[in-house]
Amino acid sequence: MTNLSEKHIVLGLSGGIACYKAAELCRALVKAGATVQVVMTEAAAQFMTPVTMQALSNRPVYVSQWDAREPNNMAHINLGREADAILVAPASADFMAKLLHGRADDLLSLMCLARPLDKVPLLLAPAMNREMWAHPATQRNVAQLRADGTHVLEVGQGDQACGEVGDGRMLEPEEILEDLIAFFQPKVLQGRSVLVSAGPTYEPIDPVRGITNLSSGKMGFAIARAAREAGAQVTLVAGPVSLATPRGVQRVNVRSAREMQEAVMAAVPSAQVFVATAAVADWRPDQAADQKIKKDGSGQTPTLRFTENPDILAGVAQSERAQSGALFCVGFAAESHDLLNHAKAKRERKGVPLLVGNIGPATFGQDDNALLLVDAQGAKELPHASKLELARLLVQDIARRLAV
Ligand code: C5P
Repeated sequence: MTNLSEKHIVLGLSGGIACYKAAELCRALVKAGATVQVVMTEAAAQFMTPVTMQALSNRPVYVSQWDAREPNNMAHINLGREADAILVAPASADFMAKLLHGRADDLLSLMCLARPLDKVPLLLAPAMNREMWAHPATQRNVAQLRADGTHVLEVGQGDQACGEVGDGRMLEPEEILEDLIAFFQPKVLQGRSVLVSAGPTYEPIDPVRGITNLSSGKMGFAIARAAREAGAQVTLVAGPVSLATPRGVQRVNVRSAREMQEAVMAAVPSAQVFVATAAVADWRPDQAADQKIKKDGSGQTPTLRFTENPDILAGVAQSERAQSGALFCVGFAAESHDLLNHAKAKRERKGVPLLVGNIGPATFGQDDNALLLVDAQGAKELPHASKLELARLLVQDIARRLAV
Protein backbone atom coordinates (compact mmCIF):
# COMPACT_ATOMS: atom_id res chain seq x y z
CA MET A 1 0.00 0.00 0.00
CA THR A 2 1.27 3.44 -0.89
CA ASN A 3 -0.28 6.69 0.26
CA LEU A 4 -2.19 7.40 -2.94
CA SER A 5 -2.71 3.89 -4.31
CA GLU A 6 -6.00 3.54 -6.18
CA LYS A 7 -6.36 7.32 -6.39
CA HIS A 8 -6.83 8.99 -9.74
CA ILE A 9 -5.76 12.62 -9.68
CA VAL A 10 -6.39 15.19 -12.37
CA LEU A 11 -3.45 17.55 -12.11
CA GLY A 12 -4.30 20.95 -13.55
CA LEU A 13 -1.70 23.56 -14.42
CA SER A 14 -2.57 27.20 -14.96
CA GLY A 15 -0.08 29.79 -16.15
CA GLY A 16 2.76 30.76 -13.84
CA ILE A 17 6.46 30.22 -13.35
CA ALA A 18 5.64 27.70 -10.60
CA CYS A 19 4.74 25.31 -13.45
CA TYR A 20 8.33 24.13 -13.19
CA LYS A 21 7.45 22.61 -9.81
CA ALA A 22 4.42 20.83 -11.29
CA ALA A 23 6.77 18.42 -13.07
CA GLU A 24 8.23 17.27 -9.73
CA LEU A 25 4.76 17.20 -8.23
CA CYS A 26 3.55 14.93 -11.03
CA ARG A 27 6.43 12.53 -10.38
CA ALA A 28 5.76 12.59 -6.66
CA LEU A 29 2.07 11.79 -7.19
CA VAL A 30 2.94 8.86 -9.44
CA LYS A 31 5.54 7.65 -6.96
CA ALA A 32 2.93 7.79 -4.20
CA GLY A 33 0.80 5.38 -6.22
CA ALA A 34 -1.66 7.69 -7.98
CA THR A 35 -2.61 7.65 -11.62
CA VAL A 36 -2.30 11.20 -12.92
CA GLN A 37 -4.11 12.90 -15.77
CA VAL A 38 -2.63 16.28 -16.65
CA VAL A 39 -4.78 19.12 -17.94
CA MET A 40 -3.07 22.42 -18.77
CA THR A 41 -4.20 25.87 -19.79
CA GLU A 42 -2.61 27.41 -22.86
CA ALA A 43 -0.77 29.83 -20.58
CA ALA A 44 0.66 26.91 -18.59
CA ALA A 45 1.93 25.38 -21.83
CA GLN A 46 4.05 28.52 -22.27
CA PHE A 47 5.92 27.63 -19.08
CA MET A 48 6.05 23.83 -19.25
CA THR A 49 5.60 21.67 -22.31
CA PRO A 50 2.82 19.08 -22.50
CA VAL A 51 5.56 16.73 -23.76
CA THR A 52 7.29 16.82 -20.37
CA MET A 53 4.05 16.36 -18.48
CA GLN A 54 2.99 13.46 -20.72
CA ALA A 55 6.30 11.71 -20.16
CA LEU A 56 6.05 12.12 -16.39
CA SER A 57 2.39 11.15 -16.09
CA ASN A 58 2.56 8.46 -18.74
CA ARG A 59 -0.70 9.74 -20.30
CA PRO A 60 -1.56 12.13 -23.11
CA VAL A 61 -2.04 15.67 -21.81
CA TYR A 62 -5.15 17.75 -22.53
CA VAL A 63 -4.92 21.48 -23.22
CA SER A 64 -7.82 22.48 -25.47
CA GLN A 65 -11.57 22.18 -25.00
CA TRP A 66 -11.69 21.48 -28.74
CA ASP A 67 -9.47 18.38 -28.39
CA ALA A 68 -11.22 15.81 -30.58
CA ARG A 69 -9.50 12.71 -29.13
CA GLU A 70 -12.43 11.89 -26.88
CA PRO A 71 -15.08 9.94 -28.86
CA ASN A 72 -17.89 12.14 -27.53
CA ASN A 73 -15.72 15.28 -27.80
CA MET A 74 -16.42 16.07 -24.15
CA ALA A 75 -13.03 15.99 -22.47
CA HIS A 76 -14.30 18.45 -19.83
CA ILE A 77 -16.91 15.91 -18.69
CA ASN A 78 -14.97 12.67 -19.12
CA LEU A 79 -11.75 13.74 -17.41
CA GLY A 80 -13.45 15.17 -14.33
CA ARG A 81 -15.81 12.23 -13.81
CA GLU A 82 -12.97 9.75 -13.37
CA ALA A 83 -11.07 11.77 -10.77
CA ASP A 84 -10.84 11.20 -7.02
CA ALA A 85 -9.70 14.83 -6.86
CA ILE A 86 -8.74 17.68 -9.15
CA LEU A 87 -5.59 19.42 -7.98
CA VAL A 88 -4.68 22.67 -9.71
CA ALA A 89 -1.02 23.47 -9.07
CA PRO A 90 -0.11 26.16 -9.81
CA ALA A 91 -3.41 28.00 -9.46
CA SER A 92 -2.79 31.52 -10.78
CA ALA A 93 -4.61 34.61 -9.51
CA ASP A 94 -6.43 34.84 -12.83
CA PHE A 95 -7.45 31.18 -12.74
CA MET A 96 -8.90 31.53 -9.24
CA ALA A 97 -10.79 34.68 -10.27
CA LYS A 98 -12.22 32.73 -13.17
CA LEU A 99 -13.31 29.78 -11.00
CA LEU A 100 -14.95 32.14 -8.58
CA HIS A 101 -17.20 33.51 -11.30
CA GLY A 102 -17.97 30.12 -12.77
CA ARG A 103 -16.34 31.11 -16.03
CA ALA A 104 -15.38 28.29 -18.36
CA ASP A 105 -13.61 29.49 -21.48
CA ASP A 106 -10.81 26.90 -21.46
CA LEU A 107 -10.68 23.18 -20.80
CA LEU A 108 -9.37 23.35 -17.21
CA SER A 109 -11.90 25.89 -15.92
CA LEU A 110 -14.64 24.17 -17.89
CA MET A 111 -13.76 20.83 -16.29
CA CYS A 112 -13.68 22.38 -12.79
CA LEU A 113 -17.12 23.90 -13.33
CA ALA A 114 -18.54 20.69 -14.76
CA ARG A 115 -17.29 18.43 -11.97
CA PRO A 116 -19.86 16.79 -9.66
CA LEU A 117 -19.47 18.96 -6.53
CA ASP A 118 -20.32 16.16 -4.10
CA LYS A 119 -18.00 13.57 -5.64
CA VAL A 120 -14.92 15.30 -7.00
CA PRO A 121 -13.13 17.64 -4.61
CA LEU A 122 -11.12 20.55 -6.00
CA LEU A 123 -7.82 21.55 -4.43
CA LEU A 124 -5.87 24.64 -5.44
CA ALA A 125 -2.21 25.41 -4.76
CA PRO A 126 -2.01 29.15 -5.38
CA ALA A 127 1.14 30.66 -6.87
CA MET A 128 1.73 34.33 -7.54
CA ASN A 129 3.65 37.48 -6.74
CA ARG A 130 3.26 38.67 -3.15
CA GLU A 131 1.37 41.85 -4.16
CA MET A 132 -1.06 39.81 -6.22
CA TRP A 133 -1.56 37.40 -3.30
CA ALA A 134 -2.09 40.22 -0.78
CA HIS A 135 -4.48 42.13 -3.06
CA PRO A 136 -7.97 42.38 -1.58
CA ALA A 137 -9.43 40.96 -4.79
CA THR A 138 -7.35 37.76 -4.47
CA GLN A 139 -8.02 37.43 -0.75
CA ARG A 140 -11.73 37.94 -1.38
CA ASN A 141 -11.63 35.30 -4.10
CA VAL A 142 -9.82 32.82 -1.86
CA ALA A 143 -12.35 33.34 0.93
CA GLN A 144 -15.27 32.88 -1.46
CA LEU A 145 -13.73 29.83 -3.12
CA ARG A 146 -13.34 28.26 0.32
CA ALA A 147 -16.93 29.12 1.16
CA ASP A 148 -17.95 27.42 -2.10
CA GLY A 149 -16.23 24.22 -0.91
CA THR A 150 -12.90 24.52 -2.74
CA HIS A 151 -9.90 23.41 -0.73
CA VAL A 152 -7.38 26.24 -1.13
CA LEU A 153 -3.95 25.21 0.18
CA GLU A 154 -1.64 27.64 1.91
CA VAL A 155 1.03 29.54 0.04
CA GLY A 156 4.73 29.40 0.75
CA GLN A 157 6.85 32.31 1.85
CA GLY A 158 10.23 33.48 0.61
CA ASP A 159 12.10 34.43 -2.58
CA GLN A 160 9.93 34.92 -5.62
CA ALA A 161 10.84 34.54 -9.30
CA CYS A 162 10.30 38.29 -9.75
CA GLY A 163 13.05 39.00 -7.23
CA GLU A 164 10.70 40.10 -4.46
CA VAL A 165 10.35 38.30 -1.13
CA GLY A 166 7.06 37.47 0.57
CA ASP A 167 3.93 35.30 0.62
CA GLY A 168 2.57 33.78 -2.55
CA ARG A 169 5.09 31.15 -3.67
CA MET A 170 3.59 27.81 -4.50
CA LEU A 171 4.21 25.19 -1.83
CA GLU A 172 6.97 22.74 -2.63
CA PRO A 173 5.89 19.51 -4.39
CA GLU A 174 6.53 17.43 -1.25
CA GLU A 175 4.37 19.79 0.81
CA ILE A 176 1.51 19.66 -1.71
CA LEU A 177 1.77 15.88 -1.76
CA GLU A 178 1.58 15.73 2.04
CA ASP A 179 -1.47 18.02 2.02
CA LEU A 180 -3.19 15.92 -0.63
CA ILE A 181 -2.53 12.68 1.25
CA ALA A 182 -3.87 14.33 4.41
CA PHE A 183 -6.94 15.49 2.52
CA PHE A 184 -7.99 11.90 1.85
CA GLN A 185 -7.68 10.78 5.49
CA PRO A 186 -10.90 10.55 7.55
CA LYS A 187 -11.24 13.58 9.85
CA VAL A 188 -11.81 11.56 13.01
CA LEU A 189 -10.05 14.08 15.28
CA GLN A 190 -11.48 17.27 13.75
CA GLY A 191 -11.47 20.08 16.30
CA ARG A 192 -9.41 18.08 18.82
CA SER A 193 -6.09 19.12 20.26
CA VAL A 194 -3.38 16.47 20.44
CA LEU A 195 -0.06 16.62 22.25
CA VAL A 196 2.73 14.19 21.32
CA SER A 197 6.14 13.73 22.91
CA ALA A 198 8.77 12.10 20.71
CA GLY A 199 12.42 11.18 20.36
CA PRO A 200 15.10 10.67 22.97
CA THR A 201 16.21 13.13 25.62
CA TYR A 202 19.79 14.28 26.06
CA GLU A 203 21.18 14.68 29.54
CA PRO A 204 24.45 16.63 29.65
CA ILE A 205 27.50 15.36 31.54
CA ASP A 206 29.58 18.39 30.56
CA PRO A 207 29.39 20.89 27.67
CA VAL A 208 30.51 18.30 25.10
CA ARG A 209 29.21 14.97 26.41
CA GLY A 210 25.87 13.60 27.41
CA ILE A 211 23.63 10.58 27.85
CA THR A 212 20.99 9.77 25.30
CA ASN A 213 19.41 6.70 23.68
CA LEU A 214 18.64 5.18 20.30
CA SER A 215 15.08 6.45 19.89
CA SER A 216 14.75 7.92 16.38
CA GLY A 217 11.50 9.78 17.05
CA LYS A 218 9.94 8.26 13.91
CA MET A 219 6.94 6.69 15.66
CA GLY A 220 6.07 9.91 17.49
CA PHE A 221 6.48 12.02 14.36
CA ALA A 222 4.24 9.58 12.47
CA ILE A 223 1.59 9.89 15.19
CA ALA A 224 1.80 13.69 15.06
CA ARG A 225 1.36 13.56 11.29
CA ALA A 226 -1.53 11.09 11.48
CA ALA A 227 -3.31 13.20 14.11
CA ARG A 228 -2.95 16.29 11.95
CA GLU A 229 -4.18 14.36 8.91
CA ALA A 230 -7.22 13.42 11.01
CA GLY A 231 -7.99 17.10 11.54
CA ALA A 232 -6.44 17.68 14.99
CA GLN A 233 -4.39 20.65 16.11
CA VAL A 234 -1.09 19.03 17.01
CA THR A 235 1.76 20.06 19.29
CA LEU A 236 4.86 17.90 19.00
CA VAL A 237 7.41 18.15 21.80
CA ALA A 238 10.53 16.69 20.24
CA GLY A 239 13.82 15.64 21.76
CA PRO A 240 17.00 16.03 19.69
CA VAL A 241 16.23 14.42 16.31
CA SER A 242 16.75 15.74 12.82
CA LEU A 243 13.41 14.59 11.37
CA ALA A 244 11.36 17.01 9.27
CA THR A 245 8.36 18.49 11.05
CA PRO A 246 5.08 17.09 9.66
CA ARG A 247 3.04 19.75 7.87
CA GLY A 248 0.75 21.81 10.00
CA VAL A 249 2.22 20.50 13.25
CA GLN A 250 3.51 22.88 15.90
CA ARG A 251 6.91 21.63 17.03
CA VAL A 252 8.67 22.49 20.27
CA ASN A 253 12.30 21.35 20.39
CA VAL A 254 13.74 20.29 23.74
CA ARG A 255 16.84 18.51 24.94
CA SER A 256 16.61 17.22 28.48
CA ALA A 257 13.81 15.40 30.30
CA ARG A 258 13.16 18.45 32.43
CA GLU A 259 12.84 20.68 29.37
CA MET A 260 10.50 18.11 27.86
CA GLN A 261 8.41 18.07 31.02
CA GLU A 262 8.15 21.87 31.00
CA ALA A 263 7.07 21.98 27.33
CA VAL A 264 4.56 19.16 27.84
CA MET A 265 3.06 20.76 30.96
CA ALA A 266 2.68 24.07 29.08
CA ALA A 267 0.63 22.32 26.39
CA VAL A 268 -1.46 20.08 28.69
CA PRO A 269 -4.13 22.69 29.59
CA SER A 270 -5.35 22.89 25.99
CA ALA A 271 -4.79 19.25 24.99
CA GLN A 272 -7.47 16.57 24.79
CA VAL A 273 -5.10 13.74 23.96
CA PHE A 274 -1.52 13.17 25.12
CA VAL A 275 0.50 10.47 23.38
CA ALA A 276 3.85 9.95 25.11
CA THR A 277 6.15 8.21 22.67
CA ALA A 278 9.35 9.88 23.88
CA ALA A 279 12.11 7.69 25.24
CA VAL A 280 12.84 9.84 28.26
CA ALA A 281 16.12 9.16 30.06
CA ASP A 282 15.39 7.59 33.43
CA TRP A 283 18.35 9.31 35.07
CA ARG A 284 20.46 12.38 34.47
CA PRO A 285 23.93 13.17 35.80
CA ASP A 286 23.48 14.78 39.18
CA GLN A 287 25.40 17.85 38.20
CA ALA A 288 26.52 18.70 34.67
CA ALA A 289 30.07 20.06 34.75
CA ASP A 290 30.46 23.64 33.51
CA GLN A 291 33.64 22.77 31.68
CA LYS A 292 34.76 19.73 29.75
CA ILE A 293 35.96 17.00 32.12
CA LYS A 294 39.58 16.42 31.11
CA LYS A 295 41.50 13.16 30.97
CA ASP A 296 44.60 13.88 33.08
CA GLY A 297 46.71 10.87 32.09
CA SER A 298 46.56 9.33 35.57
CA GLY A 299 44.25 6.50 34.45
CA GLN A 300 41.62 7.73 36.94
CA THR A 301 38.03 7.63 35.61
CA PRO A 302 35.47 10.22 36.68
CA THR A 303 32.66 9.11 38.95
CA LEU A 304 29.21 10.08 37.77
CA ARG A 305 26.34 10.39 40.19
CA PHE A 306 22.78 10.24 38.91
CA THR A 307 19.41 11.73 39.82
CA GLU A 308 16.11 10.25 38.70
CA ASN A 309 14.25 12.25 36.06
CA PRO A 310 10.59 13.16 36.49
CA ASP A 311 8.16 10.69 34.94
CA ILE A 312 6.39 13.03 32.55
CA LEU A 313 3.61 10.67 31.52
CA ALA A 314 2.81 9.52 35.06
CA GLY A 315 2.71 13.18 36.15
CA VAL A 316 0.32 14.16 33.37
CA ALA A 317 -1.84 11.09 34.02
CA GLN A 318 -2.17 12.25 37.65
CA SER A 319 -3.16 15.80 36.65
CA GLU A 320 -6.67 17.02 37.32
CA ARG A 321 -7.27 17.33 33.58
CA ALA A 322 -6.52 13.65 32.98
CA GLN A 323 -8.30 12.48 36.13
CA SER A 324 -11.47 14.37 35.18
CA GLY A 325 -11.50 12.73 31.75
CA ALA A 326 -10.76 15.96 29.84
CA LEU A 327 -7.39 14.58 28.73
CA PHE A 328 -6.90 11.07 27.36
CA CYS A 329 -3.37 9.76 28.00
CA VAL A 330 -1.60 7.13 25.94
CA GLY A 331 1.73 5.66 27.00
CA PHE A 332 4.30 3.70 25.02
CA ALA A 333 6.47 0.86 26.21
CA ALA A 334 9.58 -0.27 24.39
CA GLU A 335 10.37 -3.76 25.66
CA SER A 336 12.79 -6.44 24.58
CA HIS A 337 10.62 -9.46 25.56
CA ASP A 338 7.37 -10.59 27.19
CA LEU A 339 5.59 -7.57 25.71
CA LEU A 340 2.08 -8.29 26.92
CA ASN A 341 2.95 -8.68 30.60
CA HIS A 342 5.31 -5.76 30.68
CA ALA A 343 2.81 -3.54 28.85
CA LYS A 344 -0.01 -4.54 31.24
CA ALA A 345 2.13 -3.78 34.27
CA LYS A 346 3.32 -0.48 32.81
CA ARG A 347 -0.23 0.63 32.03
CA GLU A 348 -1.19 0.21 35.67
CA ARG A 349 2.00 1.78 36.99
CA LYS A 350 1.62 4.85 34.77
CA GLY A 351 -2.12 5.14 35.47
CA VAL A 352 -3.10 5.51 31.81
CA PRO A 353 -6.17 4.06 30.04
CA LEU A 354 -4.19 2.92 26.99
CA LEU A 355 -0.64 1.67 26.71
CA VAL A 356 1.01 0.77 23.42
CA GLY A 357 3.74 -1.84 23.53
CA ASN A 358 6.42 -2.44 20.94
CA ILE A 359 9.68 -4.34 20.77
CA GLY A 360 12.31 -1.61 21.17
CA PRO A 361 15.40 -3.16 19.59
CA ALA A 362 13.33 -4.28 16.57
CA THR A 363 11.89 -0.86 15.87
CA PHE A 364 14.39 1.82 16.93
CA GLY A 365 15.36 3.76 13.79
CA GLN A 366 13.19 1.62 11.48
CA ASP A 367 10.37 2.84 9.24
CA ASP A 368 8.06 0.04 10.29
CA ASN A 369 6.86 -1.49 13.51
CA ALA A 370 4.17 -3.65 15.12
CA LEU A 371 2.06 -2.44 18.05
CA LEU A 372 0.20 -4.06 20.92
CA LEU A 373 -2.62 -1.92 22.33
CA VAL A 374 -3.31 -2.73 25.96
CA ASP A 375 -6.29 -1.33 27.87
CA ALA A 376 -8.33 -2.39 30.90
CA GLN A 377 -10.28 -4.89 28.78
CA GLY A 378 -7.35 -6.65 27.16
CA ALA A 379 -4.95 -6.43 24.28
CA LYS A 380 -5.20 -5.88 20.54
CA GLU A 381 -2.43 -6.34 18.00
CA LEU A 382 -1.72 -3.96 15.13
CA PRO A 383 0.42 -6.18 12.92
CA HIS A 384 3.65 -5.23 11.19
CA ALA A 385 3.27 -2.16 8.91
CA SER A 386 4.87 1.20 8.26
CA LYS A 387 4.95 3.55 11.24
CA LEU A 388 2.66 5.96 9.40
CA GLU A 389 0.06 3.27 8.69
CA LEU A 390 0.20 2.13 12.32
CA ALA A 391 -0.04 5.73 13.51
CA ARG A 392 -3.21 6.21 11.44
CA LEU A 393 -4.75 3.05 12.95
CA LEU A 394 -3.79 4.17 16.44
CA VAL A 395 -5.31 7.62 15.82
CA GLN A 396 -8.54 5.97 14.66
CA ASP A 397 -8.53 3.77 17.76
CA ILE A 398 -8.02 6.78 20.02
CA ALA A 399 -10.78 8.70 18.21
CA ARG A 400 -13.22 5.81 18.84
CA ARG A 401 -12.34 5.90 22.54
CA LEU A 402 -12.95 9.67 22.69
CA ALA A 403 -16.32 9.26 21.03
CA VAL A 404 -17.61 6.87 23.72
O1 C5P B 1 8.98 3.77 32.34
P1 C5P B 1 9.17 3.71 30.88
O2 C5P B 1 10.24 4.65 30.38
O3 C5P B 1 9.34 2.38 30.27
O4 C5P B 1 7.76 4.24 30.30
C1 C5P B 1 7.54 4.53 28.97
C2 C5P B 1 6.40 5.51 28.82
O5 C5P B 1 6.48 6.55 29.80
C3 C5P B 1 6.49 6.24 27.50
O6 C5P B 1 5.18 6.62 27.14
C4 C5P B 1 7.35 7.44 27.85
O7 C5P B 1 7.16 8.52 26.93
C5 C5P B 1 6.87 7.79 29.23
N1 C5P B 1 7.90 8.36 30.12
C6 C5P B 1 7.82 9.67 30.51
N2 C5P B 1 8.76 10.18 31.38
C7 C5P B 1 9.76 9.41 31.85
C8 C5P B 1 9.85 8.07 31.45
C9 C5P B 1 8.91 7.58 30.58
O8 C5P B 1 6.91 10.38 30.07
N3 C5P B 1 10.64 9.92 32.69
